[in-house]
Amino acid sequence: MDAIKAIRARCSIREFKDTPVDRKVIEEIVDCGRLAPTARKEEPWEFVVVTDKDTLAAMADITDHGKFIKSSACAIAIFCRDTKYYLEDGSAATENILVSAASLGLGSCWVAGDKKHYCAKIAELLGAPPVSKLVSIVALGYPAKDPQPLEKRPLKDVLHWEKF
Ligand SMILES: Cc1cc2nc3c(=O)[nH]c(=O)nc-3n(C[C@H](O)[C@H](O)[C@H](O)COP(=O)(O)O)c2cc1C
Repeated sequence: MDAIKAIRARCSIREFKDTPVDRKVIEEIVDCGRLAPTARKEEPWEFVVVTDKDTLAAMADITDHGKFIKSSACAIAIFCRDTKYYLEDGSAATENILVSAASLGLGSCWVAGDKKHYCAKIAELLGAPPVSKLVSIVALGYPAKDPQPLEKRPLKDVLHWEKF
């Protein structure tokens, strides 16, 4: 699927089939994450892939609005070193992961990391150094239902030519 089709097809998926995701597919998705733009070429990111069911359940319990991580085939925790632009860099990597997952027919959902009270708990659970910034967790798996992209604000309302 080309990039524009994948961007249009992507939507948050919170219910997954039991089907596991092939390791090579996960590697391809994380590879797309690491190719994201990065300020000053710092590449501050580290990607922790979790497939162990007990760890997925523990992550789900820790988050506020990520209980569905428990039923995902895998979760990718995106940590960054504490650089000036860690949040922009980590977010760009997260978006690449979501779009590449959609292009491969996978469902995904961004679960909040940065600014959340549970960042340190997730870092401890996954053995990340305490100084690491948790930018996001991406829940991943084959969608249980047909993905239905949400209506978004129309282009005519958000596009401004030359001036706001
Ligand atoms: C920074 C950020 C944090 C988010 N955190 C959560 C979350 O904790 N739980 C969740 O279910 N969805 C989360 N989302 C997904 C949004 O709810 C979702 O993207 C939004 O409703 C638009 O729907 P769509 O992704 O289907 O286009 C998050 C998205 C972003 C960008």
